[in-house]
Amino acid sequence: MKILVIGATGTIGKAVYDSLIKEGEEVYGAHRNSTDYPVDITDSLSIENLFKKLPKLNAVINAVGTATWKPFSELKEEDYYVGIKSKLMGQVNLVHVAQNYISDNGSITLTTGILAEHYEPNAVGLSLVNGAIQSFVMAASNELQRRIKLNVVAPGAIIGDFPKDKKFADHFPIPIEEVIKLYKESIHKSDTGQVLKKY
Ligand SMILES: NC(=O)c1ccc[n+]([C@@H]2O[C@H](COP(=O)([O-])OP(=O)(O)OC[C@H]3O[C@@H](n4cnc5c(N)ncnc54)[C@H](OP(=O)(O)O)[C@@H]3O)[C@@H](O)[C@H]2O)c1
Repeated sequence: MKILVIGATGTIGKAVYDSLIKEGEEVYGAHRNSTDYPVDITDSLSIENLFKKLPKLNAVINAVGTATWKPFSELKEEDYYVGIKSKLMGQVNLVHVAQNYISDNGSITLTTGILAEHYEPNAVGLSLVNGAIQSFVMAASNELQRRIKLNVVAPGAIIGDFPKDKKFADHFPIPIEEVIKLYKESIHKSDTGQVLKKY
């Protein structure tokens, strides 16, 4: 399979990239500061330019997207727009572009997280965009053509980035291996419009 992993140097993206390479897949790793495959998901033109230089792909995985961490009382309108521009519209625009470049039966997998349905202090901005992405995937997956699948992986906090014995959003952090499994499930199963959760 030819697979694009965006965010290939991050906690999740690198682990997914390395695991797919180990399985013998043809994997392309992209991120903002990449020499070979630079991309900024907040810029649709940059996403389009990335796809133009890649061969026809069977799967696209996005493990990129940020939002503002602040207490609700300090959040200003422009703070929300950080997450809307990056994690929300970055992933929405990726789907718009990727659908034109991937093969029949191909798959697109986005990333949200536990904060879509569990509370953590200072994370209202992330909860907002995670929830919106999951609703977007539920709806947009019905309209993709050529049997292209659209799913989203929603991990809990990952051990290493967070201490394993300290609860985050009322759940203990999880091993990265459990998260890698979900991205592979999204690529290999025929389901679409799914939120694959682990927390
Ligand atoms: N880590 C966790 O515990 C956890 C848990 C649940 C959900 N999540 C979610 O999973 C996603 C990835 O998290 P992570 O912890 O793996 O991130 P990370 O370690 O901060 O890595 C981010 C990756 O994305 C790239 N990147 C950043 N901004 C970009 C942009 N605008 N366009 C293209 N590439 C960009 C970075 O490389 P460059 O700097 O070179 O661009 C890097 O490869 C996030 O949406 C996060 O909310 C993470």
